[in-house]
Amino acid sequence: MTKVKIVEVGLRDGLQNETTNLTVNQRFDLLAKLIDAGVKNFEIGAFVSAEWVPQMAVTSKLVKKYLTSPLNKKEFSASVLVPNEKGMLQAIEAGVKEVAIFGACSETFSKKNINCTIDESFERFEAVMKLAKKYKIKVRGYLSTCFGCPFEGRISENKVVELAKRMNDLGVYEISIGDTIGIANAGQVQSVFKKLLKVIPANKLAGHFHDTRGQALVNIFAAYEIGIRTFDSSIAGLGGCPYAPGATGNVATEDVVFMFEGMDVQTNLDLKKLVKTHRWLQPKMDHLLSSKVGRIGLGKL
Ligand code: HMG
Ligand code: MG
Repeated sequence: MTKVKIVEVGLRDGLQNETTNLTVNQRFDLLAKLIDAGVKNFEIGAFVSAEWVPQMAVTSKLVKKYLTSPLNKKEFSASVLVPNEKGMLQAIEAGVKEVAIFGACSETFSKKNINCTIDESFERFEAVMKLAKKYKIKVRGYLSTCFGCPFEGRISENKVVELAKRMNDLGVYEISIGDTIGIANAGQVQSVFKKLLKVIPANKLAGHFHDTRGQALVNIFAAYEIGIRTFDSSIAGLGGCPYAPGATGNVATEDVVFMFEGMDVQTNLDLKKLVKTHRWLQPKMDHLLSSKVGRIGLGKL
């Protein structure tokens, strides 16, 4: 049976852009529910500036609570975002075994999101990679604005390939190709991934689709059709990027699981438990959560 890997980013990409600031205990309970639903690959938070992203300020507490709890399992991939050496040192101090660096394909977005040029961001990543090697920490890479930038518009496909190669050369184990503002269409997704696949194998690539224009699921399907097998998603469709105006949340985990399980593609996630998690989460948030599968449920399935 064909399988896909789903990376749950709700606790990071989701919560970073919500006005409701869940407590450490609520975040931990959410994580416990996700793990109970079969989630094994997830982000816990981000070691970024609390002035830039206040919702991630509790990351260190949440990481410690997770690492010292019975939820913590060796086989899980539990990651935190780090933009620079300072973030990496915090990650090391907290005891994480995996981090993610994040760069962009657009200079303006890079400046707005991490306050540096693309070249400067790669210098910072090199410092992070050095520490990762020393402390045996796995590193995942993100490239944002691969299909369009809120400030610069369309991004050249060659630029995406060039930067993905550059990130791959740093030694990350996987590169997540981000549609930060949910502007991609299925044709563009296949075109960009086909170019990427010429230089980076499918098992080192992931798709990260925000659902701003309702295209995320079809974009995932388009990437799946040409061999991509790892996708990021966010429970209930939480969140977005605070430095990408108008960007809504990632594609919802329960929507992705509904689609793949219906196609007999194994996700190893329990859809009923994901729907229950959505319903547990809804009254805690200050807006209607976007996942239609989560809202409407599974009927008689
Ligand atoms: P900066 O202001 O340029 O940093 O911010 P700086 O080096 O000039 O230092 C200024 C202050 O920040 C200093 O403190 C530093 O110590 C501190 P002070 O001396 O003034 O007290 N500082 C830090 N504090 C905590 N953690 C750190 C850190 N580094 C410096 N790591 C910085 C640069 C990168 C820190 C800032 O721009 C930042 O935190 N940006 C993060 C933005 C962010 O998290 N965006 C969302 C995640 S990306 C995303 O969502 C896209 C993605 O999902 C993929 C997609 O959808 O495409 C991944
Ligand atoms: Mg994102």
